Amino acid sequence: MSIIGFDIGTFAAKATFLTTKGKGKNQQVVLDGLGMSQMPKGVMEQWEDQPIPARTAMSAAMRSLVKLCKLSKGRYAALSLSGDTMIIKKISMPVTTQKELKQSLAMEAEQYIPYPINDVNLDGHILSTDDRYGQMSVLLVAARKEVVNNYIQAVTLTKILKPAVIDVDALALYNAFDYVYPNSKENVILVDIGAAFIHITVLHEGLPHTIKEESIGGQRMTDEIEDVFGVQTDQAEAIKLGSVGSPDPRELAEIYERIASNWQAAIERAIDSVKSEVQDYSPSRILLAGGCANIMGLADQFQNYFSLRTELFNPLKYVKINHKKYDPAYIDYIGPQMAVSFGLALRKQELK
Ligand SMILES: Nc1ncnc2c1ncn2[C@@H]1O[C@H](COP(=O)(O)OP(=O)(O)OP(=O)(O)O)[C@@H](O)[C@H]1O
Ligand SMILES: [Mg+2]
Repeated sequence: MSIIGFDIGTFAAKATFLTTKGKGKNQQVVLDGLGMSQMPKGVMEQWEDQPIPARTAMSAAMRSLVKLCKLSKGRYAALSLSGDTMIIKKISMPVTTQKELKQSLAMEAEQYIPYPINDVNLDGHILSTDDRYGQMSVLLVAARKEVVNNYIQAVTLTKILKPAVIDVDALALYNAFDYVYPNSKENVILVDIGAAFIHITVLHEGLPHTIKEESIGGQRMTDEIEDVFGVQTDQAEAIKLGSVGSPDPRELAEIYERIASNWQAAIERAIDSVKSEVQDYSPSRILLAGGCANIMGLADQFQNYFSLRTELFNPLKYVKINHKKYDPAYIDYIGPQMAVSFGLALRKQELK
């Protein structure tokens, strides 16, 4: 493997690099590189209006992570899109093979996409096939070519990396899940909470059924702390992480409560949308990823609210790690935040 998974979020750029050791049955996946660096504030949110600063910041982040983490063996980059830059929709269409899918997709997709079909890159994942009716259910992923090209250019601009895959956050998260729990038939709710977004991937019998993304992330919490306590961003971030005491713990608890209830409502909407399509759908557990998964007490709060087992999702626990290089406590802490980049690092090269 020579693909580095780069998850460039609005708050932090994360990189994971995996290699393999041994052959056949004895083959092991090994963590060869891991890193994170903060992104300049506001840049990634303004992709649409100001693509050049975003591209430059992405490319700088990738270069510095390659150097910082000595990822020099990785020559290819896998990145993922999120937010309003793409559309993910489950559609029903006549049965085709995976090979013919791309062609048929262009015709089917037209009705679901608000852009001219020639301006978008389309991808489809067959979720299930119902031979009785000759229909299959497909996860349609559409991203504007302009945005995909920006990402590709950001990689090229590093001069040390080539683009290998442009994926989607929520599917990279599923990819990480599929690695940890291969052939799972579980109805798991995968939740990634970052700085700007919550991504929810609801699985039905082990496959993605519904993907929802809403723009409420941990940044909202930082902003409220800033407003309520009248402190600067750095101070607000430190209060949020608990490294600095809160001027008013009760007030802070109320802010947490408010934001967490927004996340609960978003998860509830995602589950309800699956329930409206799948009779007797019953989720088995919630797996929490993203930087906000580390918010003290959040997993317990979800567990109580939904009456569903809620665990942190740390895919790094399932690969071989040199503990002289990486402290186990650090791996435990950072793992959920690295889940998307981990899923990307597992990808095979697609772009030539
Ligand atoms: N221990 C912690 N407690 C509370 N919040 C935390 C903790 N660790 C990280 N965070 C928060 O997690 C967020 C960053 O998470 P992450 O790196 O997953 O976001 P991102 O991928 O950059 O954002 P997005 O996916 O929304 O674009 C920040 O808001 C940060 O303050
Ligand atoms: Mg993210």
